[in-house]
Amino acid sequence: MDSRAIQDTHPKRFSYIEKQNSYIEKKNTDPKNFPDTKKNIDYSNQACDANTKLHNSIIIGGKHVNNRMFLAPMAGLGHVAFRELLAEFGGFGLLFTGMCSAKAVPTENPDHSTVFKWREEELPWLVCQLFGSEPKSMVNAAKRIQREGFFGVDLNFGCCAAAICKKGSGAALLRNQTLSMEIVSRVRDAVSIPLFVKFRTGWENNPDQSAQMAAMFQKSGADALVFHPRVAPDRRARPPKWEHIKYIKNAVSIPVFGNGNIFDENDCKKMLHISGCDGVSIGRMAVAKPWIFAHLNLHSRTPALSDHENDMTVFKTNNNIAISHQPENFTAFQAPNIDSPNIYHYTLSRFITLLLKHHDEKTSIKFFKKFVPYFAAGFKFGHKLSQKLLKCENTDEIRQNIDSLFIPLPETISRPNLNLFS
Ligand SMILES: Cc1cc2nc3c(=O)[nH]c(=O)nc-3n(C[C@H](O)[C@H](O)[C@H](O)COP(=O)(O)O)c2cc1C
Repeated sequence: MDSRAIQDTHPKRFSYIEKQNSYIEKKNTDPKNFPDTKKNIDYSNQACDANTKLHNSIIIGGKHVNNRMFLAPMAGLGHVAFRELLAEFGGFGLLFTGMCSAKAVPTENPDHSTVFKWREEELPWLVCQLFGSEPKSMVNAAKRIQREGFFGVDLNFGCCAAAICKKGSGAALLRNQTLSMEIVSRVRDAVSIPLFVKFRTGWENNPDQSAQMAAMFQKSGADALVFHPRVAPDRRARPPKWEHIKYIKNAVSIPVFGNGNIFDENDCKKMLHISGCDGVSIGRMAVAKPWIFAHLNLHSRTPALSDHENDMTVFKTNNNIAISHQPENFTAFQAPNIDSPNIYHYTLSRFITLLLKHHDEKTSIKFFKKFVPYFAAGFKFGHKLSQKLLKCENTDEIRQNIDSLFIPLPETISRPNLNLFS
């Protein structure tokens, strides 16, 4: 019997999942847990279990995850240098790579690839996302991901970029239930690591159809779902319908993570409150504020910091404490307090250093320029900051501009400028 089968039938794991699911089921059917979603309610002071849920550990596919706040997969943004920056701040449960081509992964050389590249230290909490449409290549790629030691594998059923959908991958798969089922079940049979499926509402605004897909993903062997409640033609234009996440949650018994337009701790709580989902997946806001997971640990965690689990490391960032999923040999770095205005300048400078640690100058500049509009979206005159940084031609020039533009700190805004946040 393989290790996965042992984990699945282990009585302790079974009773844990049953207990957890019946608890969540009760919450889901209690109308008081689903207030009118249109009202702009401040959820931070409400006695809802969202306050603690985000910080509770969770078992996914038989593996323990320290909390329920994940980095969403983002091609061109979620590369190894950015993930190292996030890891230095800590506070997340899992990190997801940007999507990797299933066809390329089996033969990809991490020393040369800019996408399929990682640090050994991050493997215990790193999930590799695959896109593709051929079951055989998805299987071969997933086997390599397991061999390399990743925490898990994630299948992309949500990308609506024309180049991806034209080849029948990403959200295009949501039009082909038979092929989707075949991909998930064949990957399931091939690997024992946790299997995630990330998907969106589909091509029509019909949450019942999405719920059917969710049930089908579970039946085919997925261990957890990440759901982005927008239809494919919307890309990221209209606000996501968080209330649709509830349909997914009600359709399956595996963990469901909600995704889309989470900008602060109140949004996390609101999404959990509205949908009953098990956790959140945060994309662009983690680029705008790479310390967001550490911040969420500090500001939305109600129980005493001392009651954290044994395998979490508490580390100090000057006078702040963040709790994170860190390896034993992790040494806290000397960052400013995450609530200090210096954090922006520090983060940009550190990011350039990490980019150059992992990539050549040309790739570093490319990745930096991809990052800039999202980071600048948090400032009142973000367009101007972004334009100036995007004009830089080398990393020395970038560093000089960071110094002149971010000391003193320009005016920040509480919600990101969505024009820069596309
Ligand atoms: C630049 C960029 C690249 C993205 N790449 C991926 C990807 O590779 N795979 C994926 O499933 N989603 C991808 N997404 C979508 C995000 O994972 C996420 O669903 C979306 O940004 C909404 O979440 P957010 O509002 O927290 O950013 C990408 C988003 C952005 C902005």
